Amino acid sequence: MKFTGWNLLVSLCLFSSSLLTQAQPAPTVIADLDNRANISLNGDWHFMVDPYASGLYTFHHEVKADGYFLNAQPKPGSADLVEYDFSKSPTLKVPGDWNTQREQLFYYEGLIWYERGFEFNPKANHRTFLHIGAANYRSMIWINGKHICDHEGGFTGFDCEATQQLHAGTNFVVMAVDNTRLADGVPTLNTDWWNYGGITRDVSLVDVPERFIDQYDLRLNRARTSIEGWVHVEGAMQGEAVTVAIPEARLSVTASLDAKGNATVTLPAAGLEFWSPEHPKLYRVTLAADGDKLEDEMGFRTIETDGTKILLNGKPIFLRGISIHAEAPYRGGRANNDKDVATLLGWARELGCNYVRLVHYPHDERMTRAADRMGILVWSEIPVYWAEHFDDPAVLKKAQQQLGEEIARDRDKASIILWSIANETPATAARTQFLETLAGNVRALDSTRLVTAALLVRTEGKDKFIEDPLGASLDVIGANEYIGWYEGRPEDADTTAWHSAYQKPLIISEFGGGAKAGLHGAATERWTEEYQASIYKHQLGMFNRIPQLRGLSPWILMDFRSPVRQLPGVQDGYNRKGLISEKGEKKQAFFILQKAYREGTVGKPE
Ligand code: GCU
Repeated sequence: MKFTGWNLLVSLCLFSSSLLTQAQPAPTVIADLDNRANISLNGDWHFMVDPYASGLYTFHHEVKADGYFLNAQPKPGSADLVEYDFSKSPTLKVPGDWNTQREQLFYYEGLIWYERGFEFNPKANHRTFLHIGAANYRSMIWINGKHICDHEGGFTGFDCEATQQLHAGTNFVVMAVDNTRLADGVPTLNTDWWNYGGITRDVSLVDVPERFIDQYDLRLNRARTSIEGWVHVEGAMQGEAVTVAIPEARLSVTASLDAKGNATVTLPAAGLEFWSPEHPKLYRVTLAADGDKLEDEMGFRTIETDGTKILLNGKPIFLRGISIHAEAPYRGGRANNDKDVATLLGWARELGCNYVRLVHYPHDERMTRAADRMGILVWSEIPVYWAEHFDDPAVLKKAQQQLGEEIARDRDKASIILWSIANETPATAARTQFLETLAGNVRALDSTRLVTAALLVRTEGKDKFIEDPLGASLDVIGANEYIGWYEGRPEDADTTAWHSAYQKPLIISEFGGGAKAGLHGAATERWTEEYQASIYKHQLGMFNRIPQLRGLSPWILMDFRSPVRQLPGVQDGYNRKGLISEKGEKKQAFFILQKAYREGTVGKPE
């Protein structure tokens, strides 16, 4: 295995953890963290670009005891050899990818060190976690020069305990983040999106009592007669009580914790207003256990399939959707604030959507919180994308870790109805086995939502055949197709017939074509708005001839950066299949889809 900077960095660190500190416990995920009181560490962090990881190992690749993580500062007039100084280094905004903050970092792939100081006052018998909303792609973290955790995965949040390393007064945190793409990464080397690196989401310190509620799952049972679930209290003793209440519904239940800190709870659902796109009712839910008190905002609904139907609260539904990348409108870069979310979901709402496919990775938690409040159903996805190394058990572990982090963070979101385990993966035996395992992992973690994936379909003449063996493990079939763009002409959709090996609900999870906003010409001229509009017109006519079709998420809401889209004067580093440009310019196809959604002329719930 060729050692690059980071691989050596991580492997040496892992093998030489005694040099830094004893190996730390793996990061965890504390549920509902965005509702816990926290100290934000967002803002300006000093940074240093370190492509050779010289901040961590010597010229013979031994891990330094005096690496950058110590945040040493040269004492004026001393003989100390310190060849770095965070305090005199420039700063980057956190949260924020580095690519769009500094021109010289636009294409940078490698290691960057971040550092900032902060004041802290520890509370007796409390524990403190450093929360990172996301850092792409791998991170190592130190508090006051002591290693607290490592993490791999660019799109899921994680929490590292820092209780022992913090002290009263001024502290500092150092993070080493490397966005180098890896053949055995999740995603792997090739993606059709920009590899935005850095601390791309919020960072905060979260203070919890010695025994605290770290995970819970409350959901409406299938019969919609009661709310069932469990609560876990970290550090609790057997027999301690946990109380779950929904004050507005005058519901409350107390249960006792078992030896592992778990308690199951049930509350009657009679009279409860169920969550739906038309009525996105959220209840304030309080959870209390042994000195810890938590509040969440939750909707209660059921989602299931019945043959080829998708039933929301027992009623068939058609998902009028759109695919969305976490690309910030107007400013570019990773979407990570309320304004980005309001713009993206506002456009989806304006389009007439009741559903969005958040591609190809978990988005900022603000998106799923907003979807809960707006009544927009969600397809959430981990980046098992294209040609992963499906025969590598280490890659499966990475995918399982990201899946676990995704579900642990978002299991309290009524808007999420679909967990997607893959996008356009090759139908090899190794891939199918890998994803069958992942589908089983989803169901073990969360039996209340539907498992899906975006599959490739076989084309014969103009007809489409859904026969990917993975379909047998899915509740809902996703299928990507590009009639008129990557294959044939837009009008071919008029005579395309669809055949599925599965009597299951079908979502066309991608279709569409590119257009440069403002480029006009004949409907036969590629890259014009008219050509893209023609694709949509013909596709929409085809959809009503697919009896098991239950949803659409056209590709894609907004143009987004991609290193594989080079065409000068048209793409210029952007994938142009958006219905809206990155500057907010709506293309003709936007209005064609909007008309179909608003008038209900496309798609049948049963
Ligand atoms: C694929 C893939 C997307 C990609 C799109 C395209 O279906 O899932 O990630 O951006 O097609 O080619 O534009």
